[in-house]
Amino acid sequence: MELRRWNYEGGVSPYVAALLRQTKVNKTLTREQFLCVSPLFITFVKDLTKKDMQILILNGPNLNLLGVREPGIYGSSSFEDYLEKLRKQYKDITIDYFQSNVEGEMIDKMQEVGFSYDGIVLNAGAYTHTSVALHDCIRALKTPVIEVHISNVHAREEFRHHSMISSACKGVICGFGLDSYRLAIEAILKN
Ligand code: DQA
Repeated sequence: MELRRWNYEGGVSPYVAALLRQTKVNKTLTREQFLCVSPLFITFVKDLTKKDMQILILNGPNLNLLGVREPGIYGSSSFEDYLEKLRKQYKDITIDYFQSNVEGEMIDKMQEVGFSYDGIVLNAGAYTHTSVALHDCIRALKTPVIEVHISNVHAREEFRHHSMISSACKGVICGFGLDSYRLAIEAILKN
């Protein structure tokens, strides 16, 4: 049985054309050749249509000062330097980053991505302990939100022990320094 060869000269992507050329088939594909090529073709189409995972890291007030702010607690790396490394480590996912000192801007950002992204990694800074508005926003979203903290808030002052947002979040990671963000990404990837 012989199957007609794809008409790849006339419009299919160069990648498929190259793929088919590599098979070195002539005018037609035999059934065996077709069966040989088709899994490659399917993988290719899947790759084409595959949506990159999209994750937002959202940092709240004073986290723009990482590296400078209380390095004994928050470390001496800027978030931008850390983010560069994180993006290199997770090349296959899109990691967007937004920081704001303004509660309303954080809410606007979460509403913007919270129905289409695969996850939000949220360090709400001090708003963690005060913001009903952030709590309500997280509950309204479809995208899972992971609460993170660089420091172990439970080993610090008592006012940091309570979080207004934890109950609305998918989970909480705290106390692992900047690595808390990576652990949150791992949690999103595995869930
Ligand atoms: C923090 C802990 C909060 O209590 C504090 O207000 C912050 C940073 C952390 O990452 O450890 O701004 O969220």
